[in-house]
Amino acid sequence: MTTKERVLDLLESGRGKYFSGEELAKKLCVSRAAVWKTIASLRKEGYQIAAATNKGYSLSLQTDILSPQGVSKYLTSLGKKLDITVFPLVDSTNDIVKKMAMQGKKEGIVVIANEQTAGRGRRGRTFFSPNGTGLYMSILLRPTAYPVHQAVRITTMAAVAVCEALEEVSDEKADIKWVNDIFINGKKVCGILTEASLDMESGMLDYAVLGVGINVYQPAEGIPKELKQIVGTVFAYPQNDMKNRLAAAFLNRFMEYYDGQNPEAYIEKYRSRSIAIGKQVQVISANQTRTAFAYAINEECELLVQYEDGTRESLNSGEISIRM
Ligand code: BTN
Repeated sequence: MTTKERVLDLLESGRGKYFSGEELAKKLCVSRAAVWKTIASLRKEGYQIAAATNKGYSLSLQTDILSPQGVSKYLTSLGKKLDITVFPLVDSTNDIVKKMAMQGKKEGIVVIANEQTAGRGRRGRTFFSPNGTGLYMSILLRPTAYPVHQAVRITTMAAVAVCEALEEVSDEKADIKWVNDIFINGKKVCGILTEASLDMESGMLDYAVLGVGINVYQPAEGIPKELKQIVGTVFAYPQNDMKNRLAAAFLNRFMEYYDGQNPEAYIEKYRSRSIAIGKQVQVISANQTRTAFAYAINEECELLVQYEDGTRESLNSGEISIRM
């Protein structure tokens, strides 16, 4: 760990609390001048660090900057197994984690970014990922429990975990539009993209990259015109240390479902948050869009629909649209 990471570690361990320069220098085995230089450099990155004579340095409660230290302090024991890296700017966190997967890296790597230049959504769409106002995160998974046809479970588990995390840190109620969109007040605030690679011999997944993008705040430049009707944000104004809290809340919940004792427990929660059930929907596939009635979600998290001609289908991939 660098001196900067260690200073941040200590300041994050007690936000709002003062740490004397002497105490920091002693703990880190560096000079007080080195501590001061590090504090100056953290301030340059945007950390609000107060300095008071005879008291020392204190990281403000408001600072809202993603860091591995910031996320880790909110993680529970399952979440603590994860190996988190935060980048200021990437093309796509899913692409970075995919490369790591292909290099044989272990399950549990989490890459988080403040901004993406090539954020990807489903069906080849781009995912608007402006600087500092969102949470863009991918996790490397090597699921031993799911054959390919059950891969949808990773996405649906993540959807429940996102909703619960959002409700833990805000006063909003979060709903799911099958299969991977999270809505608050009728607007999409989060999208999930799971990309997987199949091991042909075993029929199991070799790896899966779970990508989650949450629009936490309004970007300064506003939401682009073409997305305005559909896309929303969780908060109107910045909140104390929110992005670290939200990232950890999601990771804690997700790991409980993914790694916990009762992996089926989330299915009923998924159903109860689904805005599709009992509604007329448009089922969008590569070559057509058909009107159907969505009547249930089964144990495999497939959406059961009945078309206007009376035929029924269990959808395990693809997309629907619902008039909100
Ligand atoms: C969708 O809405 O269709 C899914 C959007 C998924 C976006 C996330 S942001 C983090 C990760 N990296 C990406 O390039 N995409 C996912």
